Amino acid sequence: MRVLVADHPLVAHKLTVLRDKNTTSPIFRLLTEELVTLLAYEATRDVRVEPVNIETPVTTTVGTGLRKPTPLVVPILRAGLGMLEGMTRLLPTAEVGFLGMERHEQTLEAITYAERLPDDLTGRQVYVLDPMLATGGTLREAIKFLFARGAADITCICLLAAPEGLQKLRDELEGKNVTIVLASIDEKLDENAYIVPGLGDAGDRLYGVV
Ligand code: URA
Repeated sequence: MRVLVADHPLVAHKLTVLRDKNTTSPIFRLLTEELVTLLAYEATRDVRVEPVNIETPVTTTVGTGLRKPTPLVVPILRAGLGMLEGMTRLLPTAEVGFLGMERHEQTLEAITYAERLPDDLTGRQVYVLDPMLATGGTLREAIKFLFARGAADITCICLLAAPEGLQKLRDELEGKNVTIVLASIDEKLDENAYIVPGLGDAGDRLYGVV
């Protein structure tokens, strides 16, 4: 498993505004999309490509095309949905599947409550969108699920991670073809498994308290 933290002043700046509790939902949504587009640039460094022959107005040349099958993008509902637009802006031909996961309020274990994915992901390159890597439980379940369907490699784009959750994934996914791309690794988890300093509940801040 590889972890990449995007080191860019614009990422740091947008993340700072996102963290601010006075940032309103419309701005929060916009900034989330912009941040994901910046992270997606890093996350797609290994997207599979192939040479393509094209004609420019001047001559013929060999360029770069995305190799089929196209990547699969999987936002984890509900907060991952706020990251989808920012991702598909960069990869408009990607297929999109959905995984609905939530934390059990007492046990904090991840539960899958909805799933809309191809049955067979053999050999597919998959990009998972989930803004908050807190305990790591949700991502671990999502990753296990996708590998069980045959995914070849999985890249997770998250805004923030807690060191505890990252360590858990490192321990459990050692040697697996998984990359985690992040805007920041924060200090710690609090007693309610919120990331500190964090940005609060990402789903609530994107969509309101429902
Ligand atoms: N999920 C969130 O939305 N925020 C956190 O801090 C942790 C998990």
